[in-house]
Formats: sequence, C-alpha cells, structure tokens
Amino acid sequence: MTTLDIPELALVALVGVSGSGKSTFARRHFTPTQVLSSDTFRGLVADDENDQAASGDAFDALHHVAGIRLRRGLLTVVDATNLQPHARAGLVRVAREHDVLPVAIVLDVPEALAWERTQARADRTHGRPVLARMQRDLRQSYARLAREGFRKVHVLRGVEEIDAAQVRYEK
Ligand code: CTP
Ligand code: MG
Repeated sequence: MTTLDIPELALVALVGVSGSGKSTFARRHFTPTQVLSSDTFRGLVADDENDQAASGDAFDALHHVAGIRLRRGLLTVVDATNLQPHARAGLVRVAREHDVLPVAIVLDVPEALAWERTQARADRTHGRPVLARMQRDLRQSYARLAREGFRKVHVLRGVEEIDAAQVRYEK
C-alpha cells in the first residue's frame, strides 16, 4: 500500500493523461466539494464540458474558487490533466498566494490502458495522437514538478498502485 501524506490544508493537483483515472481517484479519496474539476468549470462557463475553447475562462473561474477555498482554510483538489507547465504554474501561484502547500499526485497508467478506457467512453472523443501527446507531456513533467514548487510529488504507477493508495493527512 502506498500512503500519500498530504497536509490537512493543501492544494492538491492531480496529474495524468485523459483516462488515467483522475476523476475516479478524486471521487474515492475526497468529498465532492473538495474537488474542482476542469470539466465542471467548462460546463459552468460554456454549457459544454468538452468545449476546449472555453478552457481559459474555465480555469480563471477554477483558480478563483480554489483561492477562495484556500483562504477559508479548505483542502482543495484540482481534477484536470495538469500536464502543461503553465497549467501547473497557475495552481502553484494560487497556493502561494494563500500560503498553502501545493502537492502533486501523479497517476501514471500504461498508454494502452488509457486508450482502451477512452474508447469505451461516450464523453471523450479525442484520438490516439492526442493521447500520445499527453503521454509525452507526462514524461516531461516528471523532471519539472519538484522544481515548479510542488512541496510533495506523489507518483502512483500502474493500476494496482493507484487502487491501493491511501491518503493520510498530516497535522
Ligand atoms: N476506470 C476504470 N477503473 C479505474 C479507474 C478508471 O475502469 N480504476 C474507468 C472509468 O470508469 C472511466 C475511465 O476509466 O470510464 C477513465 O477514468 P476517469 O477517472 O474518468 O479518468 P480521468 O483521468 O479523469 O480522465 P479525463 O482526463 O478524461 O477526465
Ligand atoms: Mg476526469
């Protein structure tokens, strides 16, 4: 079993390709209101969770709500791919503005599994090249995460490790 030590007040960024199981993980380990999902915020600002053109506005809104939650002392989890340095930089900035530690949890599953899951979903229409791009971004993320300011970087590799992980809160 992998124990994920997380400060009681943290900004937790899930990191992983589409289909890696971020939303499933978030549902299992956190309460619904602790989790801010990019899909939800795209829906709120565009009436369409898949409208990628709405991402800028969606993340503005997500960062704003995350900041309010952190100011109020509430643990906040960001359920988005968080594969791009600029996406993660936005989260580190919000955490720092509120003197809260940013923590990353990386979910790393074989690309073939992520693709299998994607094909089985009605709510995802991206092709294999898009997934391959995300996988490359994930590989490049490893070297950068700690330098970007994440206080802890937890990495879960493979379905078994992801399934067995437990969150433990540090006082
Ligand atoms: N899934 C699964 N077994 C798991 C985890 C996920 O069968 N242990 C399935 C989910 O039911 C879902 C798909 O795999 O149909 C993708 O999982 P999800 O948690 O939605 O992945 P995300 O990383 O959130 O994908 P996205 O970035 O596209 O939101
Ligand atoms: Mg998801």
